[in-house]
Amino acid sequence: MDKPPKDRKLSIALEPREIQEERLFSPSAGRNKDFIAEAFGALMRDCRNIVEIASGTGEHAIAICKARPNLHYFPSDPDPQSRRSIEAWRRHENMQQQIAAALDIDSRRSDWIENFNGVDGIVCINMIHIAPFAACEGLFKGAGKLLPVGGKLFLYGPFMREGETAPSNLDFDRSLKSRNPDWGVRDIDRALVPLAHENGMVLTSIRPMPANNHVLIFKKD
Ligand SMILES: C[S@@+](CC[C@H](N)C(=O)[O-])C[C@H]1O[C@@H](n2cnc3c(N)ncnc32)[C@H](O)[C@@H]1O
Repeated sequence: MDKPPKDRKLSIALEPREIQEERLFSPSAGRNKDFIAEAFGALMRDCRNIVEIASGTGEHAIAICKARPNLHYFPSDPDPQSRRSIEAWRRHENMQQQIAAALDIDSRRSDWIENFNGVDGIVCINMIHIAPFAACEGLFKGAGKLLPVGGKLFLYGPFMREGETAPSNLDFDRSLKSRNPDWGVRDIDRALVPLAHENGMVLTSIRPMPANNHVLIFKKD
């Protein structure tokens, strides 16, 4: 298990992140990465070529790929510090063969899918509530075009169902909106399922995760 080293500085994102050389350590990724890797293993068993949108520090890419050495994994993030962290992590773990260099992808750009070929899975962890809804729309639009029939989109985060969710997620939603009115916990039934249908995908799994989060799987129809 990777422990943050002692000689570390702090870098401020939505949460304070520790850093050694270029590798960032996100406290939330430290808590959830093993659960997410396990859910990925169970729900994305048939996928081999994976694009990750909004990879952040890169810790999820490492955990998922360690658990599934036969994956080809393409991380990305529009934030340069995150891309440096992903690069440092893949070198530190000697996983350059399995994990490609991180690309600069903003899912709001309609051309983001042009970077890829033969992708059968897309992963997006904790992004759609901490970005304008256009980022979520761009993710689904791209996924609908890029994935083959049967390909899957794996989403992780807090979600609402018909406007309801756990009290901690409602607090989180308020705090997100106070930082940016375009951010917020997204609604599975009112927002995500209709968006999936518009883009040729269906919701096939909802898996409860620790701390009132869920994994959602959308499959290309
Ligand atoms: C809360 S962090 C999550 C990072 C990582 N997935 C995790 O769970 O630790 C949100 C990430 O979304 C990225 N992001 C924000 N807007 C985006 C967009 N429009 N397209 C792609 N990534 C975006 C940010 O750069 C940031 O790395």
